[in-house]
Amino acid sequence: MPLKNRIVMAPMTRTRNSEGDIPNALMATYYGQRASAGLIVAEATDVSPSSKGYALTPGIYADVQRQGWRLVTDEVHRNKGTIFLQIWHVGRMAHSSLMPNGEAPWGVTEQRAEHSDVFAHDADGKLGYIRAGKPRRLETDEVSALVGTFSLAFAHARQAGFDGVEIHAANGYLFEQFMNSVLNTRTDRYGGARMEDRTRFLLEVVDAAVRELGPGRVGVRLSPFGTFNSLPADPQAEQTLLYLAEQLGRRGVAYMHLVYQLMPSANMESAEFKEHHIDHAVLAKVRAAFPGSIIWCGGFTSREGAQAALDTGLVDLIAFGRPYIANPDLAERLAHGWPLAEADRSTYYTRRGEVGYTDFPAYRADSLAAVAG
Ligand SMILES: Cc1cc2nc3c(=O)[nH]c(=O)nc-3n(C[C@H](O)[C@H](O)[C@H](O)COP(=O)(O)O)c2cc1C
Repeated sequence: MPLKNRIVMAPMTRTRNSEGDIPNALMATYYGQRASAGLIVAEATDVSPSSKGYALTPGIYADVQRQGWRLVTDEVHRNKGTIFLQIWHVGRMAHSSLMPNGEAPWGVTEQRAEHSDVFAHDADGKLGYIRAGKPRRLETDEVSALVGTFSLAFAHARQAGFDGVEIHAANGYLFEQFMNSVLNTRTDRYGGARMEDRTRFLLEVVDAAVRELGPGRVGVRLSPFGTFNSLPADPQAEQTLLYLAEQLGRRGVAYMHLVYQLMPSANMESAEFKEHHIDHAVLAKVRAAFPGSIIWCGGFTSREGAQAALDTGLVDLIAFGRPYIANPDLAERLAHGWPLAEADRSTYYTRRGEVGYTDFPAYRADSLAAVAG
């Protein structure tokens, strides 16, 4: 799929959807404002009700959600943008207060994320950050069934008008829980000592996505070497990454989206996004193993920094997360060397509608207003 530039808007949860986890017109405005990015990856979206670890994230399993997303894709396409939807299952990063019928979160094993919080209801029904619940270990046939659930969500994403999907296999959520060689102590075909087994769930879901959308319309996000969300450090992280690079390449996956490690912290609200670029030598091996495009994300705040990363020849596109919050026209600002606006962290995840969301002007409007004033 040809893109108009090498700038990607990174997926970001913004909690502005309507009740029922339904995307709305405000979200259409927000994404439409950012359509000059080469590629927008829309926020992490629940594949099913059992995938919910954070209240106020949107879904793609119900008809009304699909219709809501159609508003978003229409607006982005009207503005000549390209948009993929990031789809996730949080696995053990959940809490019974958000799960259907109050059941336990779904786990690779029964091992709890001991030091990590999710955004759920406390004993008094109040929303806030609370420790992730103790998960129930999924049976083998439940894992296989989940592949079917993803397949349906991919079909919904296509029907909702998305140009493609990004599978969220980063940041300690379900796919990474399966891939981690320390956490995944299962003994069935989805776990244990063999890398082929620990990556089987992800690769089956990738196959389902490719069947539904076509190979050029599927991306995978990974955070190799990450320990966010209580993931144990994985001595086999590099080996797994290179195996995946080769397997994703064989399947014609459009891109691998590599994000640096989030620093260990209790939750997304307090997460520290320190710069931690992946070793260039490792990146070179990924490059050699994977024929598709590579997106690099994390800590890029300037045109010079992004261009220097592209100039290494190791990556093809640069994703920007936080800079996209306050700069809807980030692509133009980088192209022209215009200054960047700063976002207010307290509005990252709020229910305050357009405040800190759609109320950031484009630079030209800004400067013309200043002249007029
Ligand atoms: C408000 C906010 C929400 C985020 N939500 C998601 C998400 O839904 N999915 C995801 O993979 N990463 C998410 N991230 C991580 C970003 O995609 C990105 O990897 C991170 O912010 C580092 O890039 P940056 O330094 O350009 O901000 C989020 C980050 C922020 C700040």
